[in-house]
Amino acid sequence: MECSKTYNWGIVGAGRISRKFVDGLKATRNGRPYAVAARNIDDSQEFAREKDMPVAYGSYAELAADPQVDAVYIGTVNTMHEANTILMLSHKKPVLCEKPFAMNRVEVDRMIAAARRNKTFLMEALWTNFLPSMNAVRKIIDGGVIGDITYIRADLGFFRAYDPQIRTFNPEVGGSSLLDIGIYPVFLAVTLLGYPDHITAQAVRMPDGVDVTSSMFFKWKNGAVAQLFSSYCIQLDCEGVIYGSKGKITMHRRFHAPTSISVTVDGNTQDYPVTSVGNGYNYEAQEVMDCLDKGLLESPLFPLAESARFISLLDAIIQQFS
Ligand SMILES: NC(=O)c1ccc[n+]([C@@H]2O[C@H](COP(=O)([O-])OP(=O)(O)OC[C@H]3O[C@@H](n4cnc5c(N)ncnc54)[C@H](OP(=O)(O)O)[C@@H]3O)[C@@H](O)[C@H]2O)c1
Repeated sequence: MECSKTYNWGIVGAGRISRKFVDGLKATRNGRPYAVAARNIDDSQEFAREKDMPVAYGSYAELAADPQVDAVYIGTVNTMHEANTILMLSHKKPVLCEKPFAMNRVEVDRMIAAARRNKTFLMEALWTNFLPSMNAVRKIIDGGVIGDITYIRADLGFFRAYDPQIRTFNPEVGGSSLLDIGIYPVFLAVTLLGYPDHITAQAVRMPDGVDVTSSMFFKWKNGAVAQLFSSYCIQLDCEGVIYGSKGKITMHRRFHAPTSISVTVDGNTQDYPVTSVGNGYNYEAQEVMDCLDKGLLESPLFPLAESARFISLLDAIIQQFS
């Protein structure tokens, strides 16, 4: 069997999720955490020491210019995704950029245009899409075990003391319960039922506009519906339940990367075993490297047109927030 190449990853942003991503990378077949860049060299050096990485840069531009970097992960705040992605693409670096892909459709379109202009790979890091648990749910549904989907109920919410300095509450860096965690219930509904024919949405917003609680109701022409919820103010069950004409699937807490799945048919509930390795972020990273091995410029599992359509739906939801 042909061995795939080892990819030197460059990490943009020395924050929380970048740390988790690097841990995930270590569980891939051929990913190597190589370089990290932060706005402040002290932060990148500390990160590199902690994660045992050989190279630390004090600017994103230096990482973009490093010929040893084979793929880049963008782990910065939401408002920086577009600029950071376009910088890396302009140096022909394949990019995996955190969710939300950007703040809105206009920004996402510019990122996609940069990928096409530079003939360089780009993918949104919506990790749930690549997890074995999500594939297990798709398999159960495709196997007809629960019949046709009639209703999806999914929520993700935690209590966090309000602090406008924290990223998730801070409008200057794109704070939003919808874009941070509501994105997962929305993704679950869309990946299983397609794009809804009708949406209604409401939010509780702080005076500066940041939505701290979001509620969405989706409806499809075939009669299927979804009730989706996210919050920074309410400790929720964080479950995703998919109801079908013959039974239901429960993706247990926290459903966007569930530790267990169960299937209920005729009142009998059985655990559905899912095998996975690493912390989950390895799967999206592996998909990038598998695509690069094949010379692809986007992932068939999450094409750029899908990311564009997805952010348009988030835009439409936000437009309804009052
Ligand atoms: N997939 C997931 O499970 C998951 C989970 C959590 C978050 N996320 C996503 O990951 C991204 C980062 O989240 P995080 O929790 O890791 O954030 P974070 O630690 O607060 O910040 C990440 C990085 O963003 C840069 N940054 C912070 N404040 C900034 C500012 N005011 N202006 C410009 N840049 C700033 C910093 O880069 P430097 O180090 O260069 O200074 C920081 O290290 C978000 O887009 C979020 O939606 C994904």
